Amino acid sequence: MPTAAAQPTDDRPILLGGHRVGLALMRKEDIPHIARWNQDLEFTANIGSPGEAHSLEMRQEFFDKNARMRSDSVEFAVILLSTGQLVGFGGLSDISRAMTATLFVGIGERDLWNQGLGTEATRLICEYGFFFRNLFSIKVEVNGYNRRAIRVYERLGFRLVGRLRGVIMLNGARHDQVIMDLLRQELKLEHVARFEALGERTGEPLQLDDRQGSK
Ligand SMILES: CC(C)(COP(=O)(O)OP(=O)(O)OC[C@H]1O[C@@H](n2cnc3c(N)ncnc32)[C@H](O)[C@@H]1OP(=O)(O)O)[C@@H](O)C(=O)NCCC(=O)NCCS
Repeated sequence: MPTAAAQPTDDRPILLGGHRVGLALMRKEDIPHIARWNQDLEFTANIGSPGEAHSLEMRQEFFDKNARMRSDSVEFAVILLSTGQLVGFGGLSDISRAMTATLFVGIGERDLWNQGLGTEATRLICEYGFFFRNLFSIKVEVNGYNRRAIRVYERLGFRLVGRLRGVIMLNGARHDQVIMDLLRQELKLEHVARFEALGERTGEPLQLDDRQGSK
């Protein structure tokens, strides 16, 4: 399997930038990298079901269905701001009418793990969800042995909701699926603060009479 890291492509707009990573829209050129990461059994055992792998064709199909932002889901490319390199992906699925959603995140380049990028990418996704999608809460479902991911969520303020006991199997052993959630008021919105003024201006009621009078 090729191991070349996702190289910097041309500059792409960063929708939401943090200190070291930013969120951008996915592009077709990202698909081979996502497919490569999803053919790493350690990666897929952490992010999904042990033993799973995704072909390039599967990822292309997924991209064709999910590339557009939807009212019930959104997926971002995670970009290293210093180089423009694609380093991961993440987003929100199952955005409900009750304004709840499920988060997913992955830093695909393993040599970049444990450098704080996953925590920042997760924070940005949460900030996007709370500020722009008006979410009440965000949930994650983590395989119990994925201590690194659990640590990331704990650091951001996610709390344990419960455990689905023994539902994940690996090497003949059963592991719990850990469910955690984060409420809107439990996360300080840092990177979206610059958008707050926008809400203040547009939050004023429209003066319909004034509009008519100005004709
Ligand atoms: C989970 C993932 C997104 C985290 O990204 P990352 O960039 O490595 O995360 P960070 O560096 O921001 O934080 C990792 C934290 O876990 C800690 N950690 C690492 N290994 C650990 C372990 N075995 N047990 C406990 N904590 C561990 C690190 O020390 C760090 O915490 P700290 O900052 O308090 O020291 C990334 O590892 C990944 O993509 N994994 C595969 C896919 C996946 O698991 N996705 C999440 C599915 S729910």
